[in-house]
Amino acid sequence: MDIQQLYNLVAEEREAVDAIIRQRLHSDVMLINQVSEYIINSGGKRLRPILVLLSAGAFGYQGRHHHELAAVVEFIHTATLLHDDVVDDSEMRRGKETANNVWGNAASVLVGDFLYSRAFQMMVGVQNMQVMEIISEATNIIAEGEVMQLLNVHNADLDEAGYLEVIRYKTAKLFESAAQLGAVITNRTPEEEMAMARYGMHLGTAFQLVDDVLDYSASSNELGKNIGDDLAEGKPTLPLIYAINHGSPEQAAMVRNAVEQGGIDRIEEIRQAIESVGAIAYTARSAREEADRAIAALSVIEDSPYKEALITLANYSVDRSF
Ligand code: IPE
Ligand code: IPE
Ligand code: MG
Ligand code: MG
Repeated sequence: MDIQQLYNLVAEEREAVDAIIRQRLHSDVMLINQVSEYIINSGGKRLRPILVLLSAGAFGYQGRHHHELAAVVEFIHTATLLHDDVVDDSEMRRGKETANNVWGNAASVLVGDFLYSRAFQMMVGVQNMQVMEIISEATNIIAEGEVMQLLNVHNADLDEAGYLEVIRYKTAKLFESAAQLGAVITNRTPEEEMAMARYGMHLGTAFQLVDDVLDYSASSNELGKNIGDDLAEGKPTLPLIYAINHGSPEQAAMVRNAVEQGGIDRIEEIRQAIESVGAIAYTARSAREEADRAIAALSVIEDSPYKEALITLANYSVDRSF
């Protein structure tokens, strides 16, 4: 199955989810509608809601709660993006100017809060205590991950294990929850539920590893975000960590200095250094291994087109260029 066939498999359901998203974005406060519609309508890959749909589909779910939960997960994701672009001082998102650039930081933070709390209202409506546990825990862990990352800005001593912990928290946790939800609402065995959670966790880790590669290797037109943002901030991602630990003393010193100072003045040299020491290849290989672990976790799940789509999604998250 390729990515287009995956999108086709859930096309109708995605429309149902988008209808819920549009309906639930509504507020009587105009600025909320403007900002939230701006970012939601800018597109985005909708991977996390698709994950909820595929997971529910893999277990033959027959109800409607998965549409609501898919929208909840996308709202939480979108709220994290509004806040993330403020803390990262980013100017481009989903191929457009960021909301913080258009309306300012205050509006972005506050509308992000609106989306989080609207997500929680919707989640409560599903009336399933385990669902509430999973989603509230994920939201809390993402916040911890973003703060852990903040604490490591300009830290050239962060090691690979510390980096992996940050990305598990800030990114992989929501993928984990999205994948787990399908098993929860279909009352599957703990073994199947854990398998889906593991799948999502490894998928999300692979996804962020690739995101961190793309910040050095993508074209910003295709990516829809400015590249070099991580370097500008002095964010020690795996390509830089690897170069610090495996480069020549000169290369290591240059990359270390870039993390400590931030800024993109020497981005071309940095890019060459991380490429030549194999840091990009190493990070891409790590992502491939995570995707393979995600796929391996699915072995206990019954075969179906949905399971095939989950495998396709893992491969896509590694091969993607945006
Ligand atoms: C961006 O996620 C944030 C990361 C975890 C890297 P996506 O790349 O899924 O963003 P959209 O929703 O498609 O814009
Ligand atoms: C994504 O982190 C933010 C969250 C998942 C909370 P990044 O800062 O690495 O992602 P981009 O590059 O801005 O999308
Ligand atoms: Mg960011
Ligand atoms: Mg960030």
